[in-house]
Amino acid sequence: MARVSTPLAALALAVLLPAAVAQPSSCGPPGQSRKVVVTEFDLTNPKIEVQTSDIVFAAPGEVLIHVRARPIHPADSFSVKGVYPGFRPESLPAVPGLEGMGVVAQLGKGTKELCPDIKVGMRVVPDWLDPATPRSWQDYVAVNCSNVVKIPGPVSDLSASQLLVNPMTVMGMLETLVPVDPEDKSSVYILQSAGGSALGRMLIQLARHLGYKTISTVRRCEQAEELKKIGADHVICTATDKVVDSVFNITSGMGAWGAVDAVAGEMTGLLQDSVKANGKVLAYGALEGLAYKGSVVSSLFRAVNVEGFWLQLWWLSLSHAQRKERMEGVLAFMAAGVLSTHNGRVFNLDDAKSAIADEARQGRSSDGKTFMITAAKCLMQGIKEEL
Ligand SMILES: NC(=O)c1ccc[n+]([C@@H]2O[C@H](COP(=O)([O-])OP(=O)(O)OC[C@H]3O[C@@H](n4cnc5c(N)ncnc54)[C@H](OP(=O)(O)O)[C@@H]3O)[C@@H](O)[C@H]2O)c1
Repeated sequence: MARVSTPLAALALAVLLPAAVAQPSSCGPPGQSRKVVVTEFDLTNPKIEVQTSDIVFAAPGEVLIHVRARPIHPADSFSVKGVYPGFRPESLPAVPGLEGMGVVAQLGKGTKELCPDIKVGMRVVPDWLDPATPRSWQDYVAVNCSNVVKIPGPVSDLSASQLLVNPMTVMGMLETLVPVDPEDKSSVYILQSAGGSALGRMLIQLARHLGYKTISTVRRCEQAEELKKIGADHVICTATDKVVDSVFNITSGMGAWGAVDAVAGEMTGLLQDSVKANGKVLAYGALEGLAYKGSVVSSLFRAVNVEGFWLQLWWLSLSHAQRKERMEGVLAFMAAGVLSTHNGRVFNLDDAKSAIADEARQGRSSDGKTFMITAAKCLMQGIKEEL
C-alpha cells in the first residue's frame, strides 16, 4: 500500500501549540496507537497502564484523527475509579477519556465526497458525546466525518480540546434556567457553587456575554479576586460568608433567578433557599458526595425545586444540526475571546498516572485544567492520506 507523509499536519501543530506547553518527547512504536487503559476499577487505587495496538485506519465515511490534547475532567477521574455512569465499558481493559482535539491524519473511502470541507492536516474536534465516538485517551481515533468540526485559527489546541464537556454543560444549564430571554435582564442573577472550577469560570463568562449577572460561591477566599478578574459580578466565600443572607443582600431581597450546584451536601439546600419563588436549582455535580440536603420549605411554599442536569442526556435530546451549531458557536466564542479557558499543567499521554494525580491535587483549579498531550512528531510518518 502506497503511503504519503503528512508534513502539513506536523507543521500545523508545531505552530499552534502554545509556546508555554512543554513538548513531551516519547511516542509509541511505529504503526501503533498508544492507549491508556483501565485494567481494574478501584475507588482509591485504580489500575491504569499504557498499551499499544495497531492503528485502526479510517473506514468508509470516516476520518482518522491523531489526538493531540485531552483535558482531564473530574468525570475522567470518576471513570477510572469505575463510578461514572457515562463510562460503563462491557469489559476491561478499556480506554477512558471524555474529550480532546486532534489533527486529521487520513480520510476514509468516500469521505472526500461526504465531507468536502474536511482535509488532512486540519485541526478538529469530533462530537465525543456521540456514543459511537471512541474515547480520547489514545493516539488515534476514527470517527464519522459528519461528526467533526474544524477549529478556527485563533483557538489554541488546549482550549479547543475542552469544547464539549464544560462549555456545553454551561450552555445547556443556562438554556434550562432561562428558556426565554427576559426583557429585563437586570433581574437575572445566576447563582453557582464551586465558581472557581473550570466550568464555573466558563459560566461567569458566558452569562456575562448573554447579559446575566453571576453570584459564585468558592471555598477558598483567595479565589474571589481570580474570578472578579474574569468578570464575576459577586463572589461569596463560604469560609467566611453566609450564602443565603449574602445572596438576598446582593439581589436586594429578590433572590437569585436560578442556581447550578456542583457540590451537593448542605450546599444544595443553601442554593435552594437563595433562589426566588418558582426558580430552580440544577444539581450537576457531586464534589462533596452523592447525597444532598434539600429544603422542604423552599420546594413546598416557594416552588423552588432541585432537578438534575446531565450533559449527555441534554446533548442527545438535540438534533445533529443543533449539536454542530453549538460546537461551532462555542468555538466562535473562543476565537472572539468571549470564552477563555484556564489551562494548567501538561503531561505526556505515557504519563497518565502523574496527570491523574495532578488533576486530584487540592487547589489545582487555581492553576487550571490538567492535560495529556501527544506531540505532533508522534504522527506516524507515511500514513496514507486517502483510502
Ligand atoms: N452534570 C454534567 O453533565 C457535568 C458536566 C461537566 C462537569 N460536571 C461537573 O462539574 C464540576 C466541575 O467540573 P470542572 O471540570 O469545572 O472541575 P475543576 O475545574 O476540576 O474544578 C473543581 C472545583 O470544585 C471545587 N471543589 C472540589 N470539591 C469541593 C467541595 N467539596 N466543596 C466545594 N468546592 C469543591 C474545587 O475547589 P478547590 O480549587 O478549592 O479545590 C474546584 O474549584 C464537577 O463536579 C464535574 O463532575 C458535570
